[in-house]
Amino acid sequence: LVIVLDFGGQYNQLVARRVRECNVYCEIYSYKTDIEKIKALNPRGIILTGGPNSCYEADSPTYSEELFKLGIPILGLCYGAQLMMHVLGGKVERADVREYGKTEVIVDKQTSKVMTGVSSPTICWMSHFDYISKVAPGFEITSHTADCPVASAENEAEQLYAIQFHPEVLHTVEGMKMLSNFVINVCGCAGDWKMDAFVEESIQAIREKVGDGKVLCALSGGVDSSVAAVMLSKAIGNQLTCVFVDHGLLRKDEGDEVEAVFGPEGPYDLNFIRVNAQERYYTKLAGVSDPETKRKIIGEEFIRVFEEEAKKIGVVDFLVQGTIYPDVVESGLGGESAVIKSHHNVGGLPDFVDFKEIIEPLRDLFKDEVRKAGLELGIPEKLVFRQPFPGPGLGIRIIGEVTAEKVKMVQEADAIYREEMDKAGMNKTVGQYFAALTNMRSVGVMGDERTYDYAIALRAVNTIDFMTAESAQVPWEVLQKVTSRIVNEVSHVNRVMYDLTGKPPGTIEFE
Ligand code: XMP
Repeated sequence: LVIVLDFGGQYNQLVARRVRECNVYCEIYSYKTDIEKIKALNPRGIILTGGPNSCYEADSPTYSEELFKLGIPILGLCYGAQLMMHVLGGKVERADVREYGKTEVIVDKQTSKVMTGVSSPTICWMSHFDYISKVAPGFEITSHTADCPVASAENEAEQLYAIQFHPEVLHTVEGMKMLSNFVINVCGCAGDWKMDAFVEESIQAIREKVGDGKVLCALSGGVDSSVAAVMLSKAIGNQLTCVFVDHGLLRKDEGDEVEAVFGPEGPYDLNFIRVNAQERYYTKLAGVSDPETKRKIIGEEFIRVFEEEAKKIGVVDFLVQGTIYPDVVESGLGGESAVIKSHHNVGGLPDFVDFKEIIEPLRDLFKDEVRKAGLELGIPEKLVFRQPFPGPGLGIRIIGEVTAEKVKMVQEADAIYREEMDKAGMNKTVGQYFAALTNMRSVGVMGDERTYDYAIALRAVNTIDFMTAESAQVPWEVLQKVTSRIVNEVSHVNRVMYDLTGKPPGTIEFE
């Protein structure tokens, strides 16, 4: 195990991911984590992340000198590097100019364990205002840039390494090499951790934790909650009850599809409860058009429905959620990052269900890692590679007020779009695609008659981690076919548009 101590920087989640890409298991903890807890975790190595603060200011995140005396190899990145120097007696100052972007780094010590095999010069991603003006006693400079005297430094005897740039970002061409050098060569990790080990260990850990307790899971049928549910089912069988709420904002026929897999006819050992709550949702959403209010209503109603079902079951010992890492980050729970949207699968439920503890087996994983875990669990590929679908469902793909009629429109348009994308083989190459209903009505002509109807927006994006995305190139013929079918087959739609916006500035969903 390598642990990443989070100091609030924007790339923290990437650090953990890159370590796992070196086949070394890694978890993220807050910089506020107690030293005793760190000792108990007994990590092979610790990585201190970047962060937005200046380490010499009084109220900035810090860690006591004790951390550096544990005898555990430590790698400080950006703020983490500065903090290491500051705490151990070096000097960090504000630079005249900010160093930002791709920067040429000259390696001064080729024999450095972390720099082994790295070319000089090498391109690295810099993003800092403060810089290390003097290394702490016992440290040696291992690389520099034109503006930055200490791009990296080390105290080999104490196994302390500091890197001012960001090896976790792909723009740092040899960053993976450096991280791998640290976790394998310095920390001595075997580099043989794989997803199968994660799945096996998680199942074991769940089994031990749950004992003969009762577990409740909110199943949406999406990849995350499905993988979590199957993992739990493998661990504890029918001690698990899955509640699936059909909120009437699912894709066409989706409720039945989920029931076919997880219901009594499906292959898994668990209790399955389907709640048909469509009407309740439509009533609550009537007349509401503000995106965050809609999300809150959908989230709160979900809690109400779920709470009612949970009451019927009585006291449960554990609650399972399929929270994954990007949910945690974007909801502002991943340290110091800003809240982007209130994701409805994070928070909320725990306050309303009578249970002892929460189990979130996928909390540290990215989407593509969750899929790998799903395949390890033997979940059918069709389900594992399903399009991601947000908790609030079509509610955030209908701009403005949600009505049963609008849901129907977007369901039909979306089904056509997906069908044609499947036929064209695009389902294998594009990350996420869907139809959304804009709140725009415009004039058209159909069968010699004037129409004044809605416009459907088609979206297709490619993304690896869902934190950033770019619009996908869908062949013109496919788009034309989809457009012609939608305007012909879906009533009250007379216009179809294709959204070319990336994320940022657009988010993937419309609200
Ligand atoms: P955005 O729209 O934030 O979406 O760029 C990023 C990814 O997250 C999905 N998404 C959600 N998933 N609950 C979820 O479970 C939500 O509230 C939610 N909002 C967005 C979205 O589909 C995309 O894959």
